[in-house]
Amino acid sequence: MATHFFFVTIAIMALAFTLAFASDPNPLQDFCVAVKDSKSAVFVNGKFCNDPKLAKADDFFFSGLLTPRNTSNPIGSTVTPVNVMQIPGLNTLGISLARIDFAPYGLNPPHTHPRGTEILVVLEGTLYVGFITSNPENRLFTKVLCPGDVFVFPEGLIHFQFNEGKTNAVAISGLSSQNPGVITIANAVFGSNPKISDDVLAKAFQVDKKVVDYLQAQFWWPNN
Ligand SMILES: *[C@@H]1O[C@H](CO)[C@@H](O)[C@H](O)[C@H]1NC(C)=O
Repeated sequence: MATHFFFVTIAIMALAFTLAFASDPNPLQDFCVAVKDSKSAVFVNGKFCNDPKLAKADDFFFSGLLTPRNTSNPIGSTVTPVNVMQIPGLNTLGISLARIDFAPYGLNPPHTHPRGTEILVVLEGTLYVGFITSNPENRLFTKVLCPGDVFVFPEGLIHFQFNEGKTNAVAISGLSSQNPGVITIANAVFGSNPKISDDVLAKAFQVDKKVVDYLQAQFWWPNN
């Protein structure tokens, strides 16, 4: 009986630990406006806090998110991040935004956010969106979204958004990190610097090395 109680306690503690560390750390103060000093030799998990007495409204402010962005690029989409880099007052608060503009048939290519779940709302146009679950199922979930529709991309999973309409599309995403990070799959795998050995990629993708060399020779547009 005592042993049973012990294991239940351990299980609950393990669960509490997971919940406490499942996202950006909770702040220990009202706010922690990030210092802009990039020359500092010391790194912390996030950024240093500015003296709270020096905080001003502009530390929590960003403007211009209604302005359409230029999508004349090879993939036909442009991401406008609004995270701690743009708003220093987001430091330690575990949340951020992005605007995504799509040309007709524009694509936000398969990518993951290593540190954030994403919740996206379509403002204009029609987006075919999806995400894939982890191994071994690799199950694909997709949906066609119209203005007002909302879809969730769980933290870390590969996902994409494709404008399947003949008009521009616009979406706004909320992300559960001040700095969710982006890994665009093709860019990371075929556009790494330096390149991954084509022996490795030919074996991984089960193709001829020439196919890998061709892909590695492409310019992988950095969308975000
Ligand atoms: C959009 O970007 C393209 C490619 O850089 C450029 O040629 C074009 O003039 C830009 N359009 C506008 C409206 O800025």
